[in-house]
Amino acid sequence: MKKILEMISDEMKNAFEQAGYDRELGKVTLSNRPDLCEYQCNGAMAGAKQYKKAPLMIANDVAAKLADSSVFAKAEAVAPGFLNLTLTNEFVGEYVKNMRAADKYGLEEDKTAETIVIDYGGPNIAKPLHIGHLRSAIIGESIKRILRYIGHTVIGDVHMGDWGLQMGLVINELKIRNSGLVYFDENYTGEYPSEPPFTLAELEEIYPYASKRSKEDEAYKADAMACTFKLQSGVRGYRALWNHIIEVSVTDLKKNYKRLNVEFDLWNGESAVQDLIPGMVDSMKKGGYAHISEGALVVDVKEDTDTKEVPPCMILKSDGAALYNTTDLATIMMRMSEYNPDKIIYMTDKRQELYFEQVFRCARKTKLVRPETKLVYIGFGTMNGSDGKPFKTRAGGVMRLESLIQEIYDEMLRKIAENSGIEDDEARQTAETVALAALKYGDLSNQASKDYIFDIERFTSSEGDTGPYILYTIVRIKSILAKFVENGGDLEAVRMDIKAPVNDSEKQLMMALAKYNASIEAAAQEYAPHKICAYIYDLANAFNHFYHETKILAEEDASRKAGWIALLALTRDVLETSIDLLGFSAPDRM
Ligand code: ARG
Repeated sequence: MKKILEMISDEMKNAFEQAGYDRELGKVTLSNRPDLCEYQCNGAMAGAKQYKKAPLMIANDVAAKLADSSVFAKAEAVAPGFLNLTLTNEFVGEYVKNMRAADKYGLEEDKTAETIVIDYGGPNIAKPLHIGHLRSAIIGESIKRILRYIGHTVIGDVHMGDWGLQMGLVINELKIRNSGLVYFDENYTGEYPSEPPFTLAELEEIYPYASKRSKEDEAYKADAMACTFKLQSGVRGYRALWNHIIEVSVTDLKKNYKRLNVEFDLWNGESAVQDLIPGMVDSMKKGGYAHISEGALVVDVKEDTDTKEVPPCMILKSDGAALYNTTDLATIMMRMSEYNPDKIIYMTDKRQELYFEQVFRCARKTKLVRPETKLVYIGFGTMNGSDGKPFKTRAGGVMRLESLIQEIYDEMLRKIAENSGIEDDEARQTAETVALAALKYGDLSNQASKDYIFDIERFTSSEGDTGPYILYTIVRIKSILAKFVENGGDLEAVRMDIKAPVNDSEKQLMMALAKYNASIEAAAQEYAPHKICAYIYDLANAFNHFYHETKILAEEDASRKAGWIALLALTRDVLETSIDLLGFSAPDRM
C-alpha cells in the first residue's frame, strides 16, 4: 500500500502540473505548524526563481486546482508562499480502512528479500555478562524481528565466546582444586562421566577468582595458558571438561534469554570454526594478502582515503596462536559457505567499531565474501547508572542479567500489588510481562548509538514515554473491546466498519495509525527500533486523547459505535504487532 505521504504528494504534484508547473515541486511534508494545518507544501517557494513569479502567485494557482480535491479539505496559499494543507475526513477514513484490509496493515515487503545473518548477544562462556551483552541481545532481537517481518530471511547467531583464555583459566583452577579428576589423567582411555564435576554456582565463582589471581601470579597465568593450549589442541580430557562447561553455561544462558524473550537460531561459538583456521591462513598466505610483521602474520587494511589510523588485521600472533579476529574471519567463511548471505550484521557496544572495520576490510581484501556482500556493523552506547557511569546492580558488583531483570520485576510487582491490593500468580505473571516491556522499551526508545541512563523509576512508570504506558494503553483498549463483547457485540462483524472520522481526536488517531508502513520501513532500513517506539508512543497518545474525549460504549448511533470499535481493534492490533517487533508483549489485564 502506498504511504499516506506519497498519496498526498501525488495529489499535490497533479495540481502543480495542472497549474502549468513542474510536478516535482509538489512534495508534501508534515506541518511545522500543527496549530494551523496538518501538512504543508513549500514547492511554490522553490519554483519562484524558475518561473520568475512571486511564490504566493504560484501557490494561489495551485490552490485553485485543489478546490474540489477529495484529498484536501483545505489547501490554503499563505504568505510568503506556503500551501497549508488539511486532509478530508473521507480520505483519512478510507486510508485507515484500507490498512485494515491490507496484509501487514499496508506495509510493503522489501522486494530485495535478502538472506541476512545477524550476529548478536555474544555472551562469553564462564565469564560474567555485562550490560553490553544485554543491549546486544535486546537491540539485536528487535532488528532481527523487524527485518524478518519486512520480508528477509534472517538467521540469528549468538556467537558465544567459548574458546579463549577464560576456558583455560577455569580448567586450570578445576585442576588445582581437584587434580584427581579423571579428566586430568592422560592415560585414561575410557568414557568420561556424563554429569559435570561442578555446579553452575561453582563455575560462576571460579572464573572471577581465577581471572583475578592470573593478574597477580605469573606462574598461575602460565598454567592457565598451557591449559588453553591443551584444550585447543584437542586433548581428550580437556575437551570433555570443556563440553561440561559449555553445557552448564548454555543451559543457564538459554534460561536467561528466554526470560528476555530473545531466541537464537544458531548457538555457534568461536570454537565452531577452529578447524577452518589453518586452511584460511594458508589461502591468505598463498593469495599474497598476509605477510609477517614483527613475527606476527598480518593483513594490511589501511586505505588511502583513511583519515584515522587503521592498523593491520592480525591473523596469527608470533607464537602462532589465533586471535579474536582470526575466529571472526573464519566465521565469515563458514557463514558464506553455509548460508551465502547477502548481508551479515554485527551488534556490539561501539568500542569494537574499529575492530570490525579491520575485520570487514580484511574479509573483502582476502575475498572471503562476494564483492556485493554487505557487512554491517551496529555499535551502541552504554547504559549508565544515575551517576553517569556504566550501570551496576544495587549490590554494586558485576551485572548479572538475572539480577537486572529481577530488580525491575520486583519494582513492577510492588507497583501492581500496591494498585490492586493483591499479589497472586496473575499479578506475578503481569509483573513479569510489564517488567520486560519496561526494560526493553527503556533501551530501545533511545537511538542505539547513544548512551542512556537506566532509571528504574522512570522506566517502570505508567506515564510518559515508557513501556508500561504503551501496555496500559493496549490493556485499556482490550478492556473496552471485552465490554463490547460482554454486552453482546460481535467484533468480527464490525471488523471492517471503519468510517470517516466524526471528530478531531478521532481524525488525529487515524492519522497517527496511517504512519504505520512508513515508520516500520524506516526502522528496517535504518536498523532503528527507536523509530517504532516513537511511532507507538504517538499512537498511544492519540488513542488516549480520543478515549478521553469520546464515550465509546455509550454511543447510541449503532453505526458510529461500530466504526469506533473497529478503529479500536485496529489500534490494538497495530500496537501489539509493533511491540512484538520490539520483542515484548502485553497482558490482557493490568
Ligand atoms: N564475545 C564478544 C564480547 O564479549 C562479542 C562477540 C561479538 N560478535 C563477534 N562476531 N565478534 O566482546
